[in-house]
Amino acid sequence: MVMHDFVEIAGGFRSRVEEALKKLFTPAGILTDADIPAPLVEPLRYALLGGGKRLRPVCCLAACATVSGRSDMALPAALAIEMLHNYTLVHDDLPCMDNDLLRRGQPTVHAKYGYGEAVLVGDALQAAAFEMLFRSPVSPERICRLANVFARAAGPAGVVGGQWEDCCVTASLSKERLDYIYAHKTGDLICAALDMGVLAGGGSDAEADAFHRYGLALGTAFQIIDDLLDADDPAKAEEISILRLMGKDEALALAKQTTDDGLRALDEVRPAGSEQEAAHALLRHLAISQISRTL
Ligand code: IPE
Ligand code: IPE
Ligand code: MG
Ligand code: MG
Repeated sequence: MVMHDFVEIAGGFRSRVEEALKKLFTPAGILTDADIPAPLVEPLRYALLGGGKRLRPVCCLAACATVSGRSDMALPAALAIEMLHNYTLVHDDLPCMDNDLLRRGQPTVHAKYGYGEAVLVGDALQAAAFEMLFRSPVSPERICRLANVFARAAGPAGVVGGQWEDCCVTASLSKERLDYIYAHKTGDLICAALDMGVLAGGGSDAEADAFHRYGLALGTAFQIIDDLLDADDPAKAEEISILRLMGKDEALALAKQTTDDGLRALDEVRPAGSEQEAAHALLRHLAISQISRTL
């Protein structure tokens, strides 16, 4: 039996995703269609190939592999979720939202190309993400189910609802509202990545349910750590929601406790062989290691 380890699997998934994202901009790729205005291609490339951690597509491929699916079945869904995520970041940085000039250490899309341009780059990535998802090499029935998961996560009951509560509501913050914000602005795309990986790979409903609970916990813990990282930036410290409800130590403890809940859900999934075991170990590692991340 060939032994697999999660570090090797993680590297393989990341390079597959990176290569496939680059391919979107080659002659056969969907972002170089002859009908796309040539000057639009550059900011699309800038938004998408700017060095993200690729957490969501790696989760999608790892969930698919854990349930014994072939990774090419989940690759379009993995790319689609990364495209959707990047659209949300481009819009999130706009002056009417978080008003950020830097993302991943580089000028944000609107700072480099203009406001209207950034709105349209986001719109384009969102629609192109659906086009990509529909290329999934699975049955038409499964494509419908993938599209349903994806649309819901993208929409008003998903990331848009979470961003609305985070950016557009001035009412005083309660723990319930904070949980809603974390679950939707961050949890939903991570959950959709996992749900789609399980769906594309042909996992069971019980597996889908366990992955979903793991994803919600990972999303919440991931956003708490993101907020704590921002707390070190004096320009942002004032705006950090969770610190209006608790101190930094308590927030970190909550991230750890939420991660433990997620790991317990993940443990309900029983990998069938060494390759599946390695993908499962990768998901465990992603949740644990993100607690001490610096990016
Ligand atoms: C940033 O997400 C936005 C949040 C939901 C915290 P990531 O930290 O995954 O962003 P990239 O893609 O790696 O830059
Ligand atoms: C971004 O959340 C979440 C979405 C874009 C959906 P934040 O505003 O907290 O993340 P960063 O710090 O800008 O990456
Ligand atoms: Mg924001
Ligand atoms: Mg932001």
